[in-house]
Amino acid sequence: MQLTDRINRIQISPTAAVIAEADKLKSRGVDIADFGPGEPDFPTPDHIKMAAIKAIEENKSKYTPTGGIMPLREAICAWHKRELGSSYEAKECIVSVGGKHSIFNVMSVLIQLGNEVIIPAPYWVSFPDIVKYAGGTPVFVETKPEDGFSVKASAIEKAITPKTKLLILNSPSNPTGGVVAPDEFERILTVCKKHSVWLMGDECYSHFTYEPHKPYSIASAAGSRENVIIIGSVSKTFAMTGWRIGYTLGPEALIQALIKLQSQSTSNATSIAQYAALEAMRGPMETVPVMLAEYGFRSCCWKRRGSHWSRAKPLARRATCGFPTPLPSNGSTKGCAASNDSFRALKLRRKQ
Ligand SMILES: Cc1ncc(COP(=O)(O)O)c(C=O)c1O
Repeated sequence: MQLTDRINRIQISPTAAVIAEADKLKSRGVDIADFGPGEPDFPTPDHIKMAAIKAIEENKSKYTPTGGIMPLREAICAWHKRELGSSYEAKECIVSVGGKHSIFNVMSVLIQLGNEVIIPAPYWVSFPDIVKYAGGTPVFVETKPEDGFSVKASAIEKAITPKTKLLILNSPSNPTGGVVAPDEFERILTVCKKHSVWLMGDECYSHFTYEPHKPYSIASAAGSRENVIIIGSVSKTFAMTGWRIGYTLGPEALIQALIKLQSQSTSNATSIAQYAALEAMRGPMETVPVMLAEYGFRSCCWKRRGSHWSRAKPLARRATCGFPTPLPSNGSTKGCAASNDSFRALKLRRKQ
């Protein structure tokens, strides 16, 4: 079969391949834990499920505007402002079919043959292939365990060439859990502005941070409007991977281009899922610390003395279930601690 050059440039997403293989084994009765996808093993919170059921009952089953229903675009901007300190308006927001789709669309409208895209490594496996599909060349900047896998502005500046069009910065990072501190993030923004490079912040794990880190968005920094693009998703924060809702925040002209592209591909994201996401954005977020605590718990080794459990050391610096782990800073176990609130929430959950 004669396929296009662009499809031959990429490989099937390794996570999708692992999911398919795991499903095959499960259907044969094999008892396995699938660490392929970054997938919360929590159910979607009840209030979100109820909102979707209500939407079905109210026949919210028609096409919606391509960029998403206006209440959702407004709610995403309000949530992002409240949680992460930005100031976007609905016209600077588009709803897509998951964060991956959002990233794919951004690459499609900004990257072409001859462009370079900087990606700190280790990276989420889909980034390079999405860049290649768009015609760009991924350029990797290594991050190191001793730096907590956090990339430095100086390393980014060294990697920039006249061909560089965009930097993907995924913080907290999948797979390393590395977090870029706000001051370093701002230095990176300054470098990007100096060289007219787009800074795309992938915030899909924004709320999976452990002390001393806090959820942070570069969109809260002064002067971030012109060249910053934010990718977000309800997949991880609200345990909604299968609902497929993600979003992009950025300059209005970019959002218009994304709407144009989407209008000729998927059209709107699923209407019912949009109403579920609307509830996620407007409703309580108490399930987030519960999940965080559980992931923090799993990412540590525990020692038992009598009836007392104590944390020993972080487990192999990698997440269980493919989630970013709290990484130890300076080799100590300190960075491994989830917040006290999170552990309280976990205790409550374990008592139930
Ligand atoms: C770093 C990163 N960004 C984006 C995504 C996309 O998530 P989704 O398409 O489910 O919103 C993932 C999913 O695993 C991810 O790990």
